[in-house]
Amino acid sequence: MPPEPKTDVAGWSPTSWQAKPAAQQPVYPVPNDLPATLQQLAKLPPLVTSWEIENLKHQLAEATRGERFLLQGGDCSENFEDCESSAIASKLKILLQMSLVLVQGGKKRVIRVGRFAGQYAKPRSEAAETRNGVSLPSYRGDMINRPGFTLAERTPDPSLLLRAYERSGLTINFIRSLIDGGFADLHHPEYWELGFVDNSPHAADYTRMVESIGESLRFMETLAGAVAADINRVDFFTSHEGLHLYYEQAQTRQVPRRPGWYNLSTHFPWIGERTRALNGAHVEFFRGIANPIGVKIGPTLTPADALALVETLNPQNEPGRLTFIHRFGARQVEKCLPPLVDALRSHGKHILWCCDPMHGNTETTKNHIKTRRFDNILFELEASYRILKDRGAHLGGVHIELTGDNVTECIGGASGVTEADLTRDYRTFLDPRLNYEQAMEIALLLARLMAQNQK
Ligand code: PEP
Ligand code: CO
Repeated sequence: MPPEPKTDVAGWSPTSWQAKPAAQQPVYPVPNDLPATLQQLAKLPPLVTSWEIENLKHQLAEATRGERFLLQGGDCSENFEDCESSAIASKLKILLQMSLVLVQGGKKRVIRVGRFAGQYAKPRSEAAETRNGVSLPSYRGDMINRPGFTLAERTPDPSLLLRAYERSGLTINFIRSLIDGGFADLHHPEYWELGFVDNSPHAADYTRMVESIGESLRFMETLAGAVAADINRVDFFTSHEGLHLYYEQAQTRQVPRRPGWYNLSTHFPWIGERTRALNGAHVEFFRGIANPIGVKIGPTLTPADALALVETLNPQNEPGRLTFIHRFGARQVEKCLPPLVDALRSHGKHILWCCDPMHGNTETTKNHIKTRRFDNILFELEASYRILKDRGAHLGGVHIELTGDNVTECIGGASGVTEADLTRDYRTFLDPRLNYEQAMEIALLLARLMAQNQK
């Protein structure tokens, strides 16, 4: 049995992070309404509950043992404009469809976690952006400022924290309703938009897989004698980068009859690659919350630092508490991943390995468009799967930036998006996302890999 989680984290309080250097925080004009806004936020009802959070942690512990698989995905950044029914429904739909494909291939239950209902703050490599000699604060997500290049839009505004909280609430409310009401699209894989499949060298495999999903669903419906309601009553969890620490702090609370402090703004917050400094404010804040947490890790993380992060963030070695979301890029994954896996395994650390094949594979075309190549994304995913398996560990999840729409932001895939196509429907303000077809294809290829490894 894993040890009982510690409830009283030494030297920690929801504000203890304030004594540490906090990277990537907005600078508000003085005077500002931040204190009054945070007071309001701290009073408003939570977005999620501690029961749901504990349920997710339990499921992530199962994934750490290889009994489940984590699918985490959504936009790089949500924006207030896209808080509308069709955008939310199509994101939910693609994640559900991908998860059915992965269940079919992996023969294990899938944990579905959206990058939504709170993914409104972004780290930026430059604090300022300069255009034609004019410098303004960088756009840091709709929770902080606006993308338009004017001083008014770029000045951080505390009232946006409340707008973000409200939109997160609206989003999660709609998602809960859709799920409770049953999401009919799932029952008919033959209606999924899979026309691109014909252009793939794996067309026959894909078709077989989708047909067998249809057969399994129909079989279960026959057994149940009615619509397989259980299929619709799936769990769905939310996640976002816990970047803006005052916002996260305002939603961090104690709950009746349960020890510890829960960040009730989301089920599964993660620390970004740029804010994971061991002595920084983010690690300090995260070490004290009871949620399951993720840490993005990139090529600069040494095995010694990885162990130190694990000791600080999961001192009880509780399975399900800590997920490493690794994002090395296709060129570096084979060099960077093995020493980390070996170090953690040799110290008996329970960690869930979740591959983010997006953030190490961002490139800029000669026409200055930020993109990612399908082939690099797939390579990093397959290499991670193989490396972890060869070293006695396992790939426990995948973290993907996607949209349910057919945008043209990433290059490649069977649907054949080329570099020249990028300008056709490029909508993201931040990172390029896989479109519906590309995301489904990644799920099909990953499912195929999982199925092949079961033989
Ligand atoms: C992100 O997930 O959008 C992001 C900024 O990732 P990372 O912290 O891995 O760079
Ligand atoms: Co991103």
